[in-house]
Amino acid sequence: MATARIPQGADIIGAAVPRIDGPLKTTGVARYSLDHHFPNLVHGVPVQATIGRGRIRSLDASAAEKMPGVLLVMHHGKIGNVYRTFPRQQDGSMAETRPPFEDDKIYYWGQYVAAVIAETLEQAKAAAAAIKIEYDAESPDVRHDLSAGYEGPHDSSWKRGDPDKALSEAPVTIDQTYVTPVETHNPMEMHGTVAVWDGENITLYDSSQGVVSHRTIMSEVLGIPRENVRTVSRFIGSGFGGKLSPWPQCTLAAAAARQLNRPVKISVDRRMMFSNVGHRPRTQQRIRLGATKDGKLTAIRHDFYTQTSQLDDFVEHCGEQTPFLYSCPNLEVTTALTHRNVGTPCPMRGPGAVPGLYALESGINELAWKLNMDPVELRLKNDADHDEGTNKPFSSRHWKECLTTGAEKIGWSKRTPGIGSMRRDGKIIGLGLGSASWSAARIPATASVELCPNGRVCVRSATQDIGTGTYTLFAQVAHAKTGVPLDRIDVFLGDTNLPDGPTSGGSMVTSAILPAATTAVNQAVDRLLHVAALTPGSPFHGSKPDHLTIAQGRVVPKPQEPGQPKVVGASYSASADLTANGVPFEEVLRMANLSSISATGRTFPSFEDPKAKQYSMHSFGAHFAEVEWDPEIVRLRVSRIVSVFDCGKIINMGPAKNQILGAAIMGLGMSLLEETVYDPRTGQPINGSFADYLVATCADLPDLDVTYLDYPDTIVNEYGARGVGEIGMAGVAPAITEAVYHATGVRVRELPIRIEDLL
Ligand code: MOS
Repeated sequence: MATARIPQGADIIGAAVPRIDGPLKTTGVARYSLDHHFPNLVHGVPVQATIGRGRIRSLDASAAEKMPGVLLVMHHGKIGNVYRTFPRQQDGSMAETRPPFEDDKIYYWGQYVAAVIAETLEQAKAAAAAIKIEYDAESPDVRHDLSAGYEGPHDSSWKRGDPDKALSEAPVTIDQTYVTPVETHNPMEMHGTVAVWDGENITLYDSSQGVVSHRTIMSEVLGIPRENVRTVSRFIGSGFGGKLSPWPQCTLAAAAARQLNRPVKISVDRRMMFSNVGHRPRTQQRIRLGATKDGKLTAIRHDFYTQTSQLDDFVEHCGEQTPFLYSCPNLEVTTALTHRNVGTPCPMRGPGAVPGLYALESGINELAWKLNMDPVELRLKNDADHDEGTNKPFSSRHWKECLTTGAEKIGWSKRTPGIGSMRRDGKIIGLGLGSASWSAARIPATASVELCPNGRVCVRSATQDIGTGTYTLFAQVAHAKTGVPLDRIDVFLGDTNLPDGPTSGGSMVTSAILPAATTAVNQAVDRLLHVAALTPGSPFHGSKPDHLTIAQGRVVPKPQEPGQPKVVGASYSASADLTANGVPFEEVLRMANLSSISATGRTFPSFEDPKAKQYSMHSFGAHFAEVEWDPEIVRLRVSRIVSVFDCGKIINMGPAKNQILGAAIMGLGMSLLEETVYDPRTGQPINGSFADYLVATCADLPDLDVTYLDYPDTIVNEYGARGVGEIGMAGVAPAITEAVYHATGVRVRELPIRIEDLL
């Protein structure tokens, strides 16, 4: 791809453009949070609880405090003023709202109970190991069955018609429970913070998916004005929801740096990733479906439990897609939240949708078998022509085409429905599918564009590039609107000193930044053209700004149409050369004695847009999976995944396809490999390492094939782009489990599929 020619001008929108930040990352120039070094910087190491529930009876740090290089030991009663944040959606809050060391209680294994700050990392580690802690331990509750001990009501989240009556009357029904385990985020770059105070101001270099919201949250945690906090996260070794909010190490680093008046660095190691920085919670979802004999859905019930910590009420909204994916008159979704002695969960790629659609789509697949009906046909038959949950029209929905295109690409017409009936090279082949959906919205964003005297264009916004291509997206817009080549466009992100940008979450950054960036660059160009027309000495002096335009970074007359008034000023008309080449924008700045021209654009959120509010905005898709099953050696491989997605207009086809590829691979991991296992005696995540917690590697990869339908959804923004990313993980697991059933006859309803399930 790197060698392919990138289309120029407006055609760059939609092309496959290599990431402009790629060379910085591959050459090691890009600085990640923990790459920031400062004079006098010292190192912090947290101490983790070795019980899953109980309290600290005694903590003896006297030996540790005397060890070489040790500067500070923090623990309960010794951290300074740190505060809770009010749990809320808008602006975000700490996922784990209890500040570290607030009391002497232990809520989950691995909870931070102390932290040592020392001159070197080694000294801090040695002293952390020397802290003596005695506990009053109780038996932690990490029971698997999420209904166990649950006494609260089941909140009805959506309801229409009379699903219970419809279920009792339905000639064909399904009633099954599907379970998904705790999954741990494993981005390459782990969490970590460097905290630097300068008087009353603090700068936090914290690996973050949302620097603006981190600033607000940390100002509340530290009890200081928002203006005094700067958060920086310029390059991120990816984030899948785990970096949407700061975690306790950020509080510890800031509090320690405040006490010591020295920069403090604390990194979260891979083992701590499994206990202290969130995870996708366990879910247990009962799906009941009712249908007529010819396969028309009459009832859907989706009743689920989701697990959270003892500290916070994080809900995995498994039923979010259920009310609108299918047409069905009677429906109810209920939610129940079970508390366990685990760390506080948080979003992980496609929260709600990924486990939720695993359950719903598995139910639909099982219904197809019961009806003796093709599962593609069953879905097509129950397509919804509007959102029956909200009674709004869809802004754009091409789900059926995702299904038919995917079926065509994987060769669905050659599928024979009998279990184990398809063979290739001595192996049994199974085919399956699952649908995907994810909400779309346009959230507020600000971006500024500056035409600089050195002929470069600078774009600025306090959003982040979490590996998804946001840097490149801004550059594409700036190039499309000015013609300035990509290598003369500088994009600055990930710093609260820049204009407020959106959190990189919910797959909403692309749709949010496009209008802001476009407005900013259009306005900067407009100002430039005015300057060109109004500046004495400019060859365009006296022309109307409307009659000028920018091309390849140069001010040029708009192509003149016959009969139109003369376009340019007197001095200009003498030079035929100018007509051809125009004047570089930096030359116009120089003539006008301007240091730069800049403009700021804002994105108006869809929730305040009277037109957008009339629509239900979602992306759709389908995955088709093929597995190879070799019963003689009990070997299961996913051999193909074909993914067809309707995410509106794609702005950068390269990274956009990468998003679905990566998500499909995560879906494969979810189906076959990933589960965080807690020791029932201690509550410890016992497979908390890359040796023991399996993620899909290159060796596990099937043949992956991604197609975007690329229909613009202009309700969302003028480009018609919705976000891509999270949606790609939804629908993989039901496709794989269905393919496994087709091949083996074994229906696995608790992920991950283990080889012993198939024996
Ligand atoms: Mo996404 S789970 O909002 O990073």
